[in-house]
Amino acid sequence: MPNTFGHFFRVTTFGESHGGAVGAVIDGCPPGIRLNADKIQEWLNRRRPGQSHLTSPRQEPDQIEILSGLENSSTLGTPICIMVRNRDQKSEHYSDLKSIYRPSHADFTTEMKYGIRAASGGGRASARETIGRVAGGAVAEQMLKAMIPELTVTAWVDSVASVQATINDHTKVTRKQVEKSPLRCPDSKAAKAMEQVILQAKDDGDSVGGTIRCVITGCPIGLGDPVFDKLEADFAKAMLSLPATKGFEVGIGFAATALRGSQHNDAFVSSGKKNAAIRTATNHSGGIQGGISNGEPILLRIAFKPVATIFKPQETVDSQKKRVLFKPQAGRHDPCVLPRAVPMVESMALIVLADHFLRQVAVRPAIYR
Ligand SMILES: Cc1cc2nc3c(=O)[nH]c(=O)nc-3n(C[C@H](O)[C@H](O)[C@H](O)COP(=O)(O)O)c2cc1C
Repeated sequence: MPNTFGHFFRVTTFGESHGGAVGAVIDGCPPGIRLNADKIQEWLNRRRPGQSHLTSPRQEPDQIEILSGLENSSTLGTPICIMVRNRDQKSEHYSDLKSIYRPSHADFTTEMKYGIRAASGGGRASARETIGRVAGGAVAEQMLKAMIPELTVTAWVDSVASVQATINDHTKVTRKQVEKSPLRCPDSKAAKAMEQVILQAKDDGDSVGGTIRCVITGCPIGLGDPVFDKLEADFAKAMLSLPATKGFEVGIGFAATALRGSQHNDAFVSSGKKNAAIRTATNHSGGIQGGISNGEPILLRIAFKPVATIFKPQETVDSQKKRVLFKPQAGRHDPCVLPRAVPMVESMALIVLADHFLRQVAVRPAIYR
């Protein structure tokens, strides 16, 4: 099921970048959940291109149409289909791509795998595919909020190229703070420096990458299904299925390799009172142990590469194996995809949480009554 994510809460995305429409079928959302279509649209607005001087100028309203699964704003328990029509396709910008393999893009591998590809607009490899994921994330959030009001999922741009944000307490960052700047970085000093790096790359006809942090608070204990559907394994799959992602960390991630066990272990603590929670004194594990959430904040970090589309001539080959010098015709790319990827990361995190929450309700229904 390569176009479907999840087992109990399932999101199937459909559509190509230059086809008629893109979107998602969201299956498994329980009946009787109030769904606010305006809130789903707000999520899509955070994802869409043309939202600031830092993103692709492709002008897409990305207006949602909800085709099924709702009556009077209430879920029916049936598949929810959300569709967005493609409006601003400029296939002429892709006419030179029919036989050329763009370096570090999906053209070569897609053609080798399927023997055919949607050369116009990049097909399913285009970031337009993520519209369906963001619609799924928006539904997942409204479903989860109805069941776990204290849950929060917040992502932000943590670094661009070598500029790193400084955040004192990752668990205190709010979406409101993140949305204050077009860069979606809550450290305003770092955000300014990141903006300069992005605009310089844009001027140079180049691109830059970076990292996104995602923090989940209020997650119940017990989410995650060992052994193959451990919570961090599903987060990793969710994040690494986003276009342009190259790395994933949970907790302190790769930095753990430099510590000793005595420095890394998260000691359990409790006040000893009857209803007191068992917590950990530190959170190097990032809220997941043995593949199961332990009630501490879940800490994720995702690396995005500098995207392939740049406006410098690049050596490549065509389908006849002839060497060609390739330079795209027009400037409709994101010199840095990080700001637009923030709602995509949050959406994938929410889809994983929605799926695992429903799975855990099935495992231990009594504790959620
Ligand atoms: C928000 C966003 C926008 C993107 N825009 C572009 C773009 O304009 N040009 C490009 O080459 N890649 C862009 N990408 C990345 C490609 O979709 C991706 O690199 C390509 O499908 C190859 O997949 P891979 O990088 O995961 O191997 C974008 C990714 C995201 C998340």
